[in-house]
Amino acid sequence: MKLFVTGGAGFIGSNFILYWMREHPEDSVVNFDALTYAGNLENLKSIEGNPNYHFVKGNICNAEEVKDAMAGCDTVVHFAAESHVDRSILDASPFIKTNVLGTQVLLEVALKGNIKRFHHVSTDEVFGSLDLEKSDKFSETTRYNPHSPYSASKAGSDHIVRAYFDTYGLPITITNCSNNYGPLQFPEKFIPLAITNIIEGKKIPVYGDGLNVRDWLYVEDHCRAIDRVLTDGKIGETYCVGGVTEDISNVNVVKKILALMGKDETMIEYVKDRLGHDRRYAIDWTKINKELGWKPQYSFDDWLEKTVTWYKEHQEWWKRIKNGEYQAYYVSQYGKGSK
Ligand code: NAD
Ligand code: DAU
Repeated sequence: MKLFVTGGAGFIGSNFILYWMREHPEDSVVNFDALTYAGNLENLKSIEGNPNYHFVKGNICNAEEVKDAMAGCDTVVHFAAESHVDRSILDASPFIKTNVLGTQVLLEVALKGNIKRFHHVSTDEVFGSLDLEKSDKFSETTRYNPHSPYSASKAGSDHIVRAYFDTYGLPITITNCSNNYGPLQFPEKFIPLAITNIIEGKKIPVYGDGLNVRDWLYVEDHCRAIDRVLTDGKIGETYCVGGVTEDISNVNVVKKILALMGKDETMIEYVKDRLGHDRRYAIDWTKINKELGWKPQYSFDDWLEKTVTWYKEHQEWWKRIKNGEYQAYYVSQYGKGSK
């Protein structure tokens, strides 16, 4: 395969490229990324000299840049997006531009370029929110009901991807997955924010009552799921991808991290809730399991511990991020006294 990966310098994209080059060394990968605040080429240092890997700096909203870089590729794996819900609440416009308009630009170039597969990476947040009191889960047939500008923009992108299949026959597949965690995640997201704050001796901001529930998926399990879909997935289909956790509240995630790091619960700080905060996510991954034989391999407890270790051992990586542009965002999100 000749892969055109968008957003390959971000968290999941870089994990995916490293996974793919390891598992499919005969394939080539073009990593197309605008290098926004979330893009970091340092993530891919280990494969920089590999002749099968090429980086192209470009924006998915720019058709000419996409067309030039996509030439010669047969498979698109589309990760590029504005991905942080809190940022979408501060300013929705980059989310609409990249996630909706950028996706349409990519689809159009892919269609004209006779791409054999366009795989779109999406989120469970398009389905909205589940009740804490119930045990139901999201599946491929759940009605779309997004609440944040981020999830609404991803829902828009899913619809336009399906429209290119229904209308023009572009061979697409979609995965809607739950919250990823693992190495190389930008420390604005909850788990790396908690771990790095503890190392820095800062409090961990927990929104609202801390009882919101997320479905935690180890990033490599996600990469394997995309591999299964690219290899054997049915054109035009959607697959939901989730983790192995029982429902676990945010505050209990933090308590696990504190215990792993030998700290006590006085480091938890309950702060103002996120606007429109979805209460609970849970994924039913029966379809991808039955049709493609995928299931998550990594237990949350084991891989949370390995994730904590990774952040302890890669302090230079995240300290460079936390000292840069991210600092201004942190103050606007959590308030002046939060430094
Ligand atoms: P991320 O924010 O870490 O990385 C996004 C990458 O996209 C960055 O490298 C950035 O530079 C690049 N990018 C942004 N705008 C671009 C543009 N206009 N043109 C080209 N490149 C651009 O995101 P992530 O957490 O790795 O998420 C990757 C994808 O997976 C996203 O589509 C996201 O919606 C989806 N997703 C993420 C999660 C999660 O838990 N992180 C869960 C479900 C789905
Ligand atoms: O469900 C998949 C989604 O998971 C992806 O589509 C998104 O790209 C990804 O960012 C993630 O969205 P969430 O909003 O669930 O992730 P986040 O890490 O921002 O927050 C996880 C939970 O922790 C959520 O309930 C909000 C809470 N939280 C988050 C932050 C940053 C806090 O309590 N305090 C915080 O400081």
